[in-house]
Amino acid sequence: MSNDAFIEQNRRNWDDRAGLHAQATTGYRLDRYRDDRSLLSDVVDFDRRYLGDLSGLKVLHLQCHIGTDTLSLARLGATVTGLDQSGSSLTAARELFASVDTAGRFVESNVYDAVDALDGEEFDLVYTGVGALNWLPDIARWGRVVAALVRPGGSFYIREGHPMLCTLDDERDDTALVVKYPYFETVEPMTFDQADTYVDTGGVAVAETVSHEWNHGIGEVFMALTNAGLRVTTLDEHRFLEWRFFAHQIEADERFHLPDHQIDMVPMMYSMAPDKPS
Ligand SMILES: C[S@@+](CC[C@H](N)C(=O)[O-])C[C@H]1O[C@@H](n2cnc3c(N)ncnc32)[C@H](O)[C@@H]1O
Repeated sequence: MSNDAFIEQNRRNWDDRAGLHAQATTGYRLDRYRDDRSLLSDVVDFDRRYLGDLSGLKVLHLQCHIGTDTLSLARLGATVTGLDQSGSSLTAARELFASVDTAGRFVESNVYDAVDALDGEEFDLVYTGVGALNWLPDIARWGRVVAALVRPGGSFYIREGHPMLCTLDDERDDTALVVKYPYFETVEPMTFDQADTYVDTGGVAVAETVSHEWNHGIGEVFMALTNAGLRVTTLDEHRFLEWRFFAHQIEADERFHLPDHQIDMVPMMYSMAPDKPS
């Protein structure tokens, strides 16, 4: 299969998941954003320490899914555009924004086609949240797209699952940390066939079950952005995750970390924040 075919199969998988995520009573829980008009997603609430003051900034959220992080960026004062290749995700995002009377623009596009889809528009900040890069086959190509979307003097921010974490076997019965998947980007994807998703769907199965993922090493992500002309000023590795990856992880304040004897062994996430020289 070609990368385009893998991406198209992922699009169908995400289209199918989006409706389930928008209805879910765990995880995204869209009703909370309607009930509390100042609520921020846990992701953006953490990331705001890296983002600075967003008031009046033009922000592009790549792979925005059903818009909870996009809405949170809007609530911090940004004028937001969300981009995703899943039309169902964007339908849910538009409905969420309309239901809380918030302005936002949503563009349906493969991230690799984002420059054309946005007619070459540039942004003060391009933002990418958790669970995005693993759906992309070619990180160097992605870096060039991101760099083209940031205005000179603007910046990019990403928080992602750490590629070291993504190598580990999350289906073991014991607490050992065992490498199972590749750390570096591979030509062939890791292909999964799963009828469930990462939120409780009340037993409703995903119909399009097959998806394809790639890991990208920290150096590969760093060089993708650097070679494209961005200057990485921040690279922090975190000891916590936003979701349960290992059964034995400890939950605290809606975050998950390894027990004390393992907490310094493996990074769980990273934040990377490059800017584009003027
Ligand atoms: C885990 S979700 C987004 C993460 C976001 N932080 C969230 O939880 O809402 C991944 C999103 O990436 C989108 N996606 C995957 N591959 C894509 C591509 N090639 N172009 C654009 N969007 C893509 C999917 O449609 C999905 O909405």
